[in-house]
Amino acid sequence: MANPSLLILAGDGIGPEVMAEVKKIIAWMGDKRGVTFDVSEDLVGGCAYDAHGTPLHDDTMAKAQAVDAVLLGAVGGPKYDTLDFSVKPERGLLRLRKEMDLYSNLRPAQCFDALADFSSLKQDVIAGLDIMIVRELTSGVYFGEPRGIFTEGNERVGINTQRYTESEIARVARSAFELARKRGNKVCSMEKANVMESGILWRQVVQEIHDKEYADVELSHMYADAGAMQLTRWPKQFDVIVTDNLFGDLLSDLAAMLTGSLGMLPSASLGAPMANGRPKALYEPVHGSAPDIAGQGKANPIACILSFAMALRYSFDMGDEATRVESAVEKVLADGVRTADLMGPAGGTPVSTSQMGDAIVAALDASL
Ligand code: NAD
Ligand code: IPM
Ligand code: MN
Repeated sequence: MANPSLLILAGDGIGPEVMAEVKKIIAWMGDKRGVTFDVSEDLVGGCAYDAHGTPLHDDTMAKAQAVDAVLLGAVGGPKYDTLDFSVKPERGLLRLRKEMDLYSNLRPAQCFDALADFSSLKQDVIAGLDIMIVRELTSGVYFGEPRGIFTEGNERVGINTQRYTESEIARVARSAFELARKRGNKVCSMEKANVMESGILWRQVVQEIHDKEYADVELSHMYADAGAMQLTRWPKQFDVIVTDNLFGDLLSDLAAMLTGSLGMLPSASLGAPMANGRPKALYEPVHGSAPDIAGQGKANPIACILSFAMALRYSFDMGDEATRVESAVEKVLADGVRTADLMGPAGGTPVSTSQMGDAIVAALDASL
């Protein structure tokens, strides 16, 4: 049987730095576990713009459609801030999500025991935290029409439109209920049905899908602003949270900081099943290109490494190998290995990006 195929799009800023550490893990999998991938690489974001004048070349888009999974680093950076909106690095990522129809974005926030005292919240609030945010990723205000900057009378007006169809809500709700059944069997749906019609429809459709197909799963609804408050007050009340594109963007950054650092949070963006039965998929850390630390060897590669672990689990049916990678990360953190973003006020000596990668490879070796 052919090897599973993986397209790596390292992108900009710290993207290539953290991806270099993932490549060490991929090489280790081949050498020590006999798990070999057909890896190809290409450009996305600012680096693609520099090479081709577009943040995502059509050939790259076609490659992404053809592989078993895409692994992305990060896009963007100050160098590209003044570019026309249509060719900004972020448009490349949004095109991938939209054209691959990756409607279900899984953003887990898990607290590793070794980092429980590192969160800005009290230890008992955070210890043992394991929640999953399911963010709708291909619709809502990110893509709704009309949009643009127009002139009305003698002033400019900026317009974006929040738009959700029933079927878009239903499919992401199903993916949240399916996940909940494999976890704590609880879903909390967040919107603002008190002020938005799209929120009213969201709440109705999630409830209908629940009542018809997932009555065994516990469902609650919350306004997204109250949800943000509850996430910081007592996050362990949640199991799976399902929410729209924009609220999911905000709430997942918030959840990331519960666990200590944006540098820890992976994500999987999943679409409909392909011919092989696995979902179309793109894996990426939640963090961005971190221009403030790019090129300095300071970035934490764990979010990107854990994103690869999610690929092992969701795209390649290698749950055991995924757990092996996650346990190696856990061991390294328990041993006190820390990149700069994980240093508390007590200080200490941080390791570099590549030293963190090496430590995780050593922990993988020790797992054999
Ligand atoms: P960011 O996530 O890049 O950085 C926010 C803060 O977190 C910075 O202080 C950064 O140093 C820190 N940080 C992020 N990742 C880290 C890591 N792995 N290790 C250590 N520290 C880390 O967000 P931003 O500054 O708002 O955005 C910078 C650029 O990235 C923008 O162009 C933005 O559009 C883009 N962005 C891209 C993605 C993506 O590619 N998926 C996601 C978010 C932001
Ligand atoms: C994310 C990012 C992206 C988003 C940007 C870079 C397009 O913030 O993946 O969370 O807003 O979805
Ligand atoms: Mn974001």
